[in-house]
Amino acid sequence: MQIVHQIESLRQLIKANRAANPAVRIGFVPTMGFLHRGHASLLEAARKECDVVILSIFVNPLQFGPNEDLERYPRDEERDMAIARETGTDIVFFPQVSEMYPKPTRTMVSVSGVTERLCGASRPGHFDGVATVVTKLLNIVQPDKAYFGMKDAQQVAVIEQMVYDLNIPVTIVPCPIVREEDGLAMSSRNVYLSEEERRQALVLSAALEEAESLLEARKETISPEQLRQTVVRHIQSAPLADIDYVELLSYPDLAPVDFWGSDERIIIAVAVRFGATRLIDNRILHAPVASLSHS
Ligand code: PAJ
Repeated sequence: MQIVHQIESLRQLIKANRAANPAVRIGFVPTMGFLHRGHASLLEAARKECDVVILSIFVNPLQFGPNEDLERYPRDEERDMAIARETGTDIVFFPQVSEMYPKPTRTMVSVSGVTERLCGASRPGHFDGVATVVTKLLNIVQPDKAYFGMKDAQQVAVIEQMVYDLNIPVTIVPCPIVREEDGLAMSSRNVYLSEEERRQALVLSAALEEAESLLEARKETISPEQLRQTVVRHIQSAPLADIDYVELLSYPDLAPVDFWGSDERIIIAVAVRFGATRLIDNRILHAPVASLSHS
């Protein structure tokens, strides 16, 4: 496994790989480090489908708001390298902020529409930061495939829209959410939780699971708004849960769903604070085909 800190050295390595085998398939997994099994699953998917697997670790300041956790974002370089090795990663790109942003950026990539709701609404500027750094990384690495987790389903929608709009020659591969055994979606931020917050945070996955069963059982008789409300009530049963949003939208358009339409995918997405820690989770469901109930 090779670890590189400079853009130029990474480009040279990639060039050498492509020169040695013009048909080489390069898989790329961008992360902010503090890797867990969720990140590992992306690296494993890339390992299965590609010849060369490249992981980037970069805590991107552009995507953090002024009152967010940039300064205290958890880091563990040694463990990250161990996970990278275990998953068969070939190259780790680990740049400093000064390497990625030697001067203040004057060009930002901004995706409209799919960024209007959910985390786009509650974290202004966040997705501009994500879209900009992912564009830079895709330009640097020029992978054949790039792997993203559905834990951040809106991020996947934003990246897919951006790649489509800007004709970026890469295939985006969305990968399923990896959860702890008790259902909590894996996240680098879970380490912030106290024991009690961690216990109560289980309401997120439980509420989403309940929503899925309810939709299966009641199909056309429950409206989208009623379904959303059951998730809100379930989450509110945890005293420490402070809801940022609970939304039911179409996926990947992320438009409001007032009544069940044709066989479209919907997302129930939640963002909830436990103390100072903001957790997100979601579930993608198939909406009932018929539309009997208008909310
Ligand atoms: P980060 O939060 O480190 O996540 C890196 C990738 O791992 C993302 O695609 C994310 O969706 C995926 N991931 C995180 N937890 C997961 C889980 N429990 N199951 C499956 N996949 C999971 O997302 C970012 O970094 C940044 O915004 C980035 C894309 C790197 C741009 O800076």
